[in-house]
Amino acid sequence: MSKGVLKILILTLILLTHKTSASAVARCSNCGRTPVPYPLSTAPNCGDQSYKIRCTGGTLWFDAMNGSSYTITSIIPLTQRIVIRPASLARDACIASDMRTQGIQLDDNLPFNITSSNTILLLNCSDAMLSLQAPINCSSNCVCHSYIKANAPACMSSSLCCMFRTGGSQTSYDVRVQGGGCAAYQSFVNLDSKLAPEKKWPEPGLELEWELPQEPVCKVPVDCKDLLHSNCLA
Ligand SMILES: *[C@@H]1O[C@H](CO)[C@@H](O)[C@H](O)[C@H]1NC(C)=O
Ligand SMILES: *[C@@H]1O[C@H](CO)[C@@H](O)[C@H](O)[C@H]1NC(C)=O
Ligand SMILES: *[C@@H]1O[C@H](CO)[C@@H](O)[C@H](O)[C@H]1NC(C)=O
Ligand SMILES: *[C@@H]1O[C@H](CO)[C@@H](O)[C@H](O)[C@H]1NC(C)=O
Repeated sequence: MSKGVLKILILTLILLTHKTSASAVARCSNCGRTPVPYPLSTAPNCGDQSYKIRCTGGTLWFDAMNGSSYTITSIIPLTQRIVIRPASLARDACIASDMRTQGIQLDDNLPFNITSSNTILLLNCSDAMLSLQAPINCSSNCVCHSYIKANAPACMSSSLCCMFRTGGSQTSYDVRVQGGGCAAYQSFVNLDSKLAPEKKWPEPGLELEWELPQEPVCKVPVDCKDLLHSNCLA
């Protein structure tokens, strides 16, 4: 049996053994050409309402706290993952364009969190960062310097930048930028920092994951025809 098949079986078992919830639901229709897998929801009449995302202009958006929104660049239903595009830099400055909300802040009451697959580069940092211990790496050979050289000339004038890998309770729900810390950031999914590119960096992204939802109620098999790998039990 392949790993993929095993994973599907395990997921199915988890789904099947979950307690049933109150409402029967349908998968949401595509957003532009992008499928919206269950339990993600773009409307009140589909998906699971705890898993709201937004479909505007044929693009999927993830709305974080306090009004910052990020484009969703991919969704991997089998592993319950979403990749969002982090904020860009404000024009000609080494300041994140979501500085107003101090970077990305997820609502910890919602079933989304930040996975441990992200490498975050912190840019335009204050000296206060130097007092932080590993895993934050602010050394002069940190790969953030080669990123700045290739992609963020506005950040050349600030000498301190740092890097860390997400994972652990401190980084489950936010990537923070603020005065007194660092004013800008960039994020990459599954970046091997030892093989960090000199010039051509991959597309930035921040990977999130969602908790498995409660199993929706179904009475007849057709009720779950839209749900991935689900069957209606007698
Ligand atoms: C770096 O961040 C500070 C705020 O902490 C800001 O005042 C400064 O303009 C930023 N530097 C650049 C080059 O944008
Ligand atoms: C974001 O919103 C929460 C609650 O609405 C508030 O407590 C917090 O201060 C806000 N944070 C920022 C950075 O605006
Ligand atoms: C910081 O990162 C650089 C480059 O990846 C590495 O060579 C160095 O050993 C790291 N320093 C610490 C303190 O982890
Ligand atoms: C994030 O959510 C997943 C799925 O519910 C969970 O397994 C994981 O422990 C959470 N991670 C953190 C750091 O909270």
